[in-house]
Amino acid sequence: MSNTAGAISVAWSGVSVDLGGRTVLDSINLEVAAGSWTTIVGPNGAGKSTLLRTLAGTVAHSGTVRVGPANTSEPSGRNRARLLAMVPQHPVIPTGMQVFDYALLGRSPHQGLRFSASTKDRRSTEAVLDRLNLTPFSNRAVDSLSGGERQRVVVARALVQETPVLVLDEPMSFLDLRHQLEVLELVAELRAERDLTVIGSLHDLSVVGQFADRIAILDAGRLVADGHPAETLTSKLIARHWGVDARTEVDSEGAVTVTVRRRRPA
Ligand SMILES: Nc1ncnc2c1ncn2[C@@H]1O[C@H](COP(=O)(O)OP(=O)(O)OP(=O)(O)O)[C@@H](O)[C@H]1O
Ligand SMILES: [Mg+2]
Repeated sequence: MSNTAGAISVAWSGVSVDLGGRTVLDSINLEVAAGSWTTIVGPNGAGKSTLLRTLAGTVAHSGTVRVGPANTSEPSGRNRARLLAMVPQHPVIPTGMQVFDYALLGRSPHQGLRFSASTKDRRSTEAVLDRLNLTPFSNRAVDSLSGGERQRVVVARALVQETPVLVLDEPMSFLDLRHQLEVLELVAELRAERDLTVIGSLHDLSVVGQFADRIAILDAGRLVADGHPAETLTSKLIARHWGVDARTEVDSEGAVTVTVRRRRPA
């Protein structure tokens, strides 16, 4: 799994999205530095997936979305797929497709119009499946896997794409604790190895502050906070935007752990 490009930055400027007559994103301005790990958090329906989908080009928006150095225009088609790999919250999996073939599709943006996998494509797919401990599933149909196994295969396909930007929309909702940490650790390793820019959304506030170096809080389509986890994952902001009591702890390296506390009747 070699590096294919230097780290690149991403920026939203004045991005708004209207869906079904409602403003789902309202004038979002956010810059993600090259090589950083930014996670978008916020309550259900805040607009996190919509914001990430503007990167994939699957939702109409006003304003500009930039992937690459300042003054580059919004990428399209194959160019976009060479820059940016997406793990969607609700991936569409072709019926009956085997795990290996599904992951191998991640190589298609690197090919011409007719995709015919090379030995190198097959080797890099094998390497990613091995790294995610998915080799034993290679010949299984993706739709026969458990929710968590399937989610890891979708992550594998995105990694096989070998793009400088990796976008992960709730990649861990079906994963058990060990696999959650495994996927996050792998992304952290790849980020260091390949100079990846990682942009994600994650509900689990207990782990997000240990991996992301920047957190953006979205609420009702607006960006309401943006900064280091120690500045954004505070009890006050968590109470304001999620309406729950949370205790936060910052370790000597600046990693933040959040514990949500049950509200007991007085
Ligand atoms: N096609 C659509 N028509 C109307 N409303 C839509 C459409 N797609 C999304 N929405 C609404 O836009 C809002 C933002 O949706 P989005 O999926 O971005 O939220 P989210 O922050 O990712 O939520 P979750 O945490 O549940 O994944 C929601 O209220 C959703 O119902
Ligand atoms: Mg979502």
